[in-house]
Amino acid sequence: MTDTPIRVAVVTGASRGIGAEIAKALAEQGRHVVLMARNVEALDAVQGQIHASGGVATVIPCDVSDHQAMADAIESVYADHKRLDILVNNAGITRDNLLVRMSDDEFDEVIAVNLRSVFISCRAALKPMMRGKWGRIINISSVSAVVGNPGQANYAASKAAVTGLTKSLAKEMAGKNITANVVAPGFIETDMTTALPQRVKDAAIQATPLRRFGQAMEIAAAVAYLASDTAGFTTGQVLVVDGGMTMA
Ligand code: NAI
Repeated sequence: MTDTPIRVAVVTGASRGIGAEIAKALAEQGRHVVLMARNVEALDAVQGQIHASGGVATVIPCDVSDHQAMADAIESVYADHKRLDILVNNAGITRDNLLVRMSDDEFDEVIAVNLRSVFISCRAALKPMMRGKWGRIINISSVSAVVGNPGQANYAASKAAVTGLTKSLAKEMAGKNITANVVAPGFIETDMTTALPQRVKDAAIQATPLRRFGQAMEIAAAVAYLASDTAGFTTGQVLVVDGGMTMA
């Protein structure tokens, strides 16, 4: 029997919230996790938690909206480890406003972080994955992309585009043993949602059959499955984890 290699996983937006939980879940699977985000102190704290649990993680500070920095960061992972197996594009922002009032900057900023960075990182990661003849790409979208959300035309557009990108990529890479899937969370308890007005939170809970917000680790569990060796027959899918909010 040959030894299973220690697979290297990159997680963007790993400094807190859903990204930090994804990083911890992948470390528990025995992956070497590369943590990317802008806040070095917060990344160091997540790295410390992973090491304390017996996992392995390294930190690469990176603003994913700086697209050259993003491409360089992915290339440095391959230079350091001679492999890159798993890419989780989780970094994301909201700049909510009604479309009639939305500024060009509010639109462009969201597209740069939520969509263009995904294109850049996927393109950079594909070469090492093709060399390794194995890959798992998981992009984090949102139920806003599935059903729309008032005040989130920019965000919903960016996340819907991520789905189109991922499905196209899944078809392009199917012959290379590289899968690409989307996880679309509903309302999850993180810094992104704590800032919402109470009436919006109450309405979200009412619209969710399970009558609660999800936990970040419940998204991480879905990502960990799609990143696993046994998920190799699942590609081009959108796994919605939303407490039943958008079930057909
Ligand atoms: P959060 O705001 O708690 O964390 C976002 C992470 O992305 C942080 O680590 C932040 O540093 C990082 N990030 C943001 N801009 C960045 C940039 N320019 N460069 C590098 N890193 C950057 O958000 P949360 O809730 O953990 O969201 C994670 C993902 O899940 C996002 O893509 C979000 O759109 C998506 N999502 C979240 C939902 C929720 O209810 N919390 C619902 C649906 C989707």
